[in-house]
Amino acid sequence: MENKEISQAVIGRLPRYFRYLGELKDEGIERISSQELSDIMHVTASQIRQDFNNFGGFGQQGYGYKVEYLYEEIGKILGLDKTHNLIIIGAGNLGQALANYMNFERRGFIFKGIFDNNPALFGRKIRDMEVKSMEEMEDFVRDNEIDIAVLTIPKTSAVMVAEKLVQNGIKGIWNFAHVDLNVPKEIQVENVHLSDSLMKLTYNILRFENENNN
Ligand code: NAI
Repeated sequence: MENKEISQAVIGRLPRYFRYLGELKDEGIERISSQELSDIMHVTASQIRQDFNNFGGFGQQGYGYKVEYLYEEIGKILGLDKTHNLIIIGAGNLGQALANYMNFERRGFIFKGIFDNNPALFGRKIRDMEVKSMEEMEDFVRDNEIDIAVLTIPKTSAVMVAEKLVQNGIKGIWNFAHVDLNVPKEIQVENVHLSDSLMKLTYNILRFENENNN
């Protein structure tokens, strides 16, 4: 595979390809053309071909794509051929909801621990994990080879907690706190703001209404 810089826009589309291909694979479909994939995914066939060309193409002229092969290759590109150890910081509503969502495990994301600074929560069982104190967090990260931390704490403490995580060897942060984290560039941060998605929705509702009222 070529080792060239892939745009974030392409990377952003890979999980969706991966999801659709997983469903096709589960339905027993072995082969698919870019046109068929385009019809299902509502993305143009040329966009699909361009996206896949970034990784050497994956297809054969006139044959289409082998679904299972493509699924596995995209999985590898996304780092899903390995398991990842995660911890959650913040055992509130959001932290607990994420901890209880089993489907992450199917993709190789293994929740190893959940931490909070509220003593009332220490020892409370969330799925098969007991909430631990923040004092235990640093040793835990090192001893359990944690590579990803999920931040579901208020923004006031997120920056400081992120610094501690970085000092203890975390590679990536899935950040739900509404603040930009100031971490070294070798640490990957994915900010998730559900409200951004809602605002896109309201924009599109408005746009549709405006277009249809004029
Ligand atoms: P919550 O109040 O139910 O839970 C927050 C938990 O974090 C509490 O258990 C609290 O004790 C703990 N905590 C606070 N400071 C801490 C620290 N320094 N170290 C360890 N634990 C600490 O709140 P909820 O609803 O779970 O939301 C969590 C955060 O995520 C909030 O800041 C909220 O604004 C944000 N949020 C973000 C969303 C997004 O789409 N990005 C969506 C929903 C919430």
